[in-house]
This record gives sequence, C-alpha cells and structure tokens, in this order.
Amino acid sequence: MRALEEKILKEGKVLGDDVLKVGAFLNQRLDVRFLMEMADEVVRLFDGVAIDKVLTVEASGIAFAVCVAHKLNVPAVYAKKGGAANVSGDTYSAEIYSFTHKASNTVVVTKEYLERGERVLIVDDFLANGAALNGLIDIVGQADAYVAGCAIAIEKGFQRGGDKLRAAGYKVESLAIIDEMSSSDIKFRG
Ligand code: G4P
Repeated sequence: MRALEEKILKEGKVLGDDVLKVGAFLNQRLDVRFLMEMADEVVRLFDGVAIDKVLTVEASGIAFAVCVAHKLNVPAVYAKKGGAANVSGDTYSAEIYSFTHKASNTVVVTKEYLERGERVLIVDDFLANGAALNGLIDIVGQADAYVAGCAIAIEKGFQRGGDKLRAAGYKVESLAIIDEMSSSDIKFRG
C-alpha cells in the first residue's frame, strides 16, 4: 500500500538493525483515519474470503485489528498476555517467544470467545519472525476454528516469518513489506 510506505518513510524511525518505530501513527499515537484506510485495503485484499471474526494479541495489534473488524463488520477478539496456561480449563493458550524482547509470554483467549468452525482473520501490526502469528494460529486450531488468513500492517520481510507462513499455505497479506532497512534508507518489496 503506497500510502503506508510513504507514511513509514515520513514518520517512521529505524532503531538499530531491525526495529522500526511507528509510534507516531500505529503504535502509540493512533492516526485513526489512516488506520481505517489501511483497514479498507485489508477488506479489498480479502474480498471473497469468508471471515467471521478478527483475532489479534495485545497490545499494539489491537488498534489496527479493531479498524479491520469494524470494516468487515465482525467482532474482534484479542489474546491477553501474562495469563496462566489453561489452569482453570476455560481458556486456550499459547506460548509466544518475542525475539525483540527476548522473553516468552503465555497468551490466552477465553474459550467462549472463539467458536468451533468460525473463520478467523488474524490481524497484527507487525510480522517479524512470526512467533505471534504462530501462537495465534495454534489457538485457532485449539478452538477447532479455521484460519481464513493473516492481515498485517508492516512485515519485516528480512526476518522471514511471513515467507514461512506463506510456504505453509496461509494467505498472508501485508500492507507494507520491508526487505531492507537502515537509519538512512528503507527498501520495500515489490
Ligand atoms: P514475531 O512475533 O513476528 O516473531 O516478532 P517479534 O517477536 O520480533 O515481535 C515481538 C513484539 O515486537 C511484538 O509486539 C511485535 O509486534 C513487535 N515488533 C516486532 N518488530 C517490531 C518493529 O520493528 N517495530 C515495532 N514497533 N514493533 C515491532 P509485542 O512486544 O509482543 O507486544 P506489544 O508491543 O504489541 O505490546
């Protein structure tokens, strides 16, 4: 999505080799009108795909996921971090290792919020190594629901998580894919 690439170039900041700060519009200050335009693009990319629910993980995926859910007119659910792994039996859970934070989180979804047979669109702000998406895919499987696809705002293509998921057969659509970045330049795929 050209407008997103331009926004990243204008408002994003590259930290170190592999972190892109986009707090100015996506992660902390939220440019809601623009997020809604991004959501319109997701709707276009998933035209013809049946979707019953949007699933994301807290925290910074929620804003974009809510916009996508609004445009698709379906509910949004987010996995909560720091839950206990299925102690009471009323949650689905997965372990997500954050490469960025070098720490693992258990994420949980209350069972009644995901129904058997539902077609779930997984949405997140970033896709890097794919740990978060793999955890969410696992949770969808635990619910006997289906992954309709994955919609991502910004994919860091050089970290390969997206390519692995596509090779595994998932429809992964990212609005911007970064193949190379440094403090002086960002190169987008395609
Ligand atoms: P992965 O899930 O694709 O494997 O990625 P990784 O472990 O590297 O990402 C961990 C967290 O960092 C995720 O959020 C992810 O959205 C975020 N993230 C990854 N790369 C970037 C980046 O370049 N810039 C920004 N701004 N965020 C990035 P989180 O820490 O789990 O949660 P939260 O920040 O949403 O609370």
